[in-house]
Amino acid sequence: MVRVGIVGIGNIAAMFIQAIEYYRRLDSDVGLIHSVIDGYRVSDINIVYAIDISKDKVNRDIAEAIFAKPNIVPKLVDVEKLGVTVRMGRILDGVASHMVNDFQPTSLREPTLDEIVEELKSYNVDVLVNLLPVGSAEASRFYAKAAARAGTVFVNCIPEFIASDGYYCELFERSSTLILGDDIKGQLGSTVVHRALASLISMRGAEIVESYQLNVGGNTDFKNMLDQTRLASKKKSKTVAVASTQSKPEEILQNIFAGPSGYIPFLGNTKVSYIYIKAKGFLGLPVTMDLKLVVDDKAMASAILIDVVRLAAALKRRGIKGCPYWASAPYFKYPPKQARSDEEALLDLYIHLDKLDIDIEPKRLYMWDIYKSLSKTD
Ligand SMILES: NC(=O)c1ccc[n+]([C@@H]2O[C@H](COP(=O)([O-])OP(=O)(O)OC[C@H]3O[C@@H](n4cnc5c(N)ncnc54)[C@H](O)[C@@H]3O)[C@@H](O)[C@H]2O)c1
Repeated sequence: MVRVGIVGIGNIAAMFIQAIEYYRRLDSDVGLIHSVIDGYRVSDINIVYAIDISKDKVNRDIAEAIFAKPNIVPKLVDVEKLGVTVRMGRILDGVASHMVNDFQPTSLREPTLDEIVEELKSYNVDVLVNLLPVGSAEASRFYAKAAARAGTVFVNCIPEFIASDGYYCELFERSSTLILGDDIKGQLGSTVVHRALASLISMRGAEIVESYQLNVGGNTDFKNMLDQTRLASKKKSKTVAVASTQSKPEEILQNIFAGPSGYIPFLGNTKVSYIYIKAKGFLGLPVTMDLKLVVDDKAMASAILIDVVRLAAALKRRGIKGCPYWASAPYFKYPPKQARSDEEALLDLYIHLDKLDIDIEPKRLYMWDIYKSLSKTD
């Protein structure tokens, strides 16, 4: 069993918790990236702890809180009460001034760091998932420190550079636990699709001249990101993810724009991405591509989380500490070290897990068979 705690019971949490229930009931693995990780199936994921600050969510069972406003994920499956009451968190910089009416923070007493550490220990939380709004720099670090002190794995889904910060790597190493992050990718989200095209261009000997990725959506995530002062790390995370596929990432960086580009309420959780790339190909001649991607943004993130929490628990079980870059690279936009492509990142993960004797099935890469047959002949 993987005992999961969640900080920020917003739309991703609402989709993730319903997804666990959906796959628990459905005897099928359709849509999952991996069915089994170290023996864990989706039905082995248990939510045991939850924190928010909203008056409509705190002190309610999480199965009810996920449908409280301003969340807009519809009811997809019946989720019975889980017996997990959402606890009050520390607000810090989690609520931007233009979001006060949306998130509606309560005036309940906020817990100290020591109290959160004690809660994580007493609820036996294996993995704490950070789903705070973009720009929650202080609040994210507060919960990361609590996780380190409690010996809990921290999964940082948001664009705050924590798993990629040497200070936190050492802190988690010293605490004999680990951190995965930063900024979760989607199953088929705009970053992974943009990166796939960019690495294809590189693999075929061409190079990107300029590119943009414009994203619009209609939930609190996009509304929160209207405040440009909260966006610096989001833009960096998305831009570097694309540039790192090229042979000279630092030279192309200023010609890549990737980031949130508008809040359109009627879109709800639907994210629309427009990806444009101009590349220089054979004889220096231009090649251009335009792509429109439409996804349910919260389903895309939840598909990755379903893998990541099981992976995190498996790594903890094997005594992995600090910031294992190879575990974060396939799943996060800004890992401690970027792979040149997502295939390379996944192959590297499979190789590391094989050495640790952690099963992960099904293997999604034909390259894996080639790698295995070559290692047998060596
Ligand atoms: N595909 C994706 O959706 C995707 C991809 C990458 C990263 N992310 C990031 O994941 C995060 C979560 O996304 P979401 O759509 O669930 O957000 P959301 O806006 O729906 O939910 C945020 C939640 O955090 C709570 N909160 C605010 N301050 C808090 C605090 N100090 N302590 C505890 N709770 C607090 C709010 O009350 C709200 O319930 C966002 O930062 C988003 O940008 C999402």
